[in-house]
Amino acid sequence: MIKIKNLTKSFGDKKITRGLDLTINDNDFIAIIGRSGEGKSVLLKQMIGLIKPDSGQIIIDGQDVSKLDKKDLQEVYKKCGYVFQFAALLDSLDVFENVGITLLEENVPPKEVRPEVIKRLNSVGLSEDVLYKFPDELSGGMKKRVGLARTLMRSPKILIYDEPTTGLDPITVRLIHELIKKTHESLNATTIVISHDIEVFKYATKVAMLHEGKIIYTGPTENIWECDNPYIYQFIRGLDKGPITSKK
Ligand SMILES: Nc1ncnc2c1ncn2[C@@H]1O[C@H](COP(=O)(O)OP(=O)(O)OP(=O)(O)O)[C@@H](O)[C@H]1O
Ligand SMILES: [Mg+2]
Repeated sequence: MIKIKNLTKSFGDKKITRGLDLTINDNDFIAIIGRSGEGKSVLLKQMIGLIKPDSGQIIIDGQDVSKLDKKDLQEVYKKCGYVFQFAALLDSLDVFENVGITLLEENVPPKEVRPEVIKRLNSVGLSEDVLYKFPDELSGGMKKRVGLARTLMRSPKILIYDEPTTGLDPITVRLIHELIKKTHESLNATTIVISHDIEVFKYATKVAMLHEGKIIYTGPTENIWECDNPYIYQFIRGLDKGPITSKK
């Protein structure tokens, strides 16, 4: 369903994505891992058309997203829900306005938007008590939930999360992962999670490793601890060196 071929992107003379290939099937729940600054967020932003690649293809449902104009990209946005790193809530808007923003901007009357917003808040484990709170009145975990509730307003078929658990305590990390899994199952969606947090391996069915601008490994998560790819071996154990038992 998502096929990325030979993707490249540089900022100035800094090469970030360097001939990246990745295939993600329908209903996959895939974790993309890689060190800070490797270009994970840049990859996701290219997938949803926020950043234009220099070359290569990103085919989603048979369409090359990298070649679409603004109008056609809107259609892709409807299929893809993107949950930003740091939740990206608008500080000057309350929870109701943040979650309901698309409908409110389309001039749907607030009294019709309200039940839709409450439904999504409930599905991410929040009650309507938070409806009129502003982002700075919410904890980090609540902000991530509100960010997800906003994405769910469009019932996307592809859900992309950028670092959904960064900065949260271990219990909230587990709750957020369970929520991502529940959402994956209930929407029958394809789920892509970018994460530093190896806890995600308990939930994702596949893992892909980004290294030096390419995906250097893809495989089922249940094999991950036996994986002898040196970069995976080091990454999941937090080592800066480790056995190089396989060639790249
Ligand atoms: N719009 C931009 N303009 C210029 N450089 C950028 C832009 N966006 C990202 N970069 C650079 O691209 C590189 C990769 O950034 P990216 O945010 O994708 O890293 P990441 O893998 O998501 O890291 P982290 O795990 O810390 O979130 C960084 O060096 C960053 O400075
Ligand atoms: Mg990032």
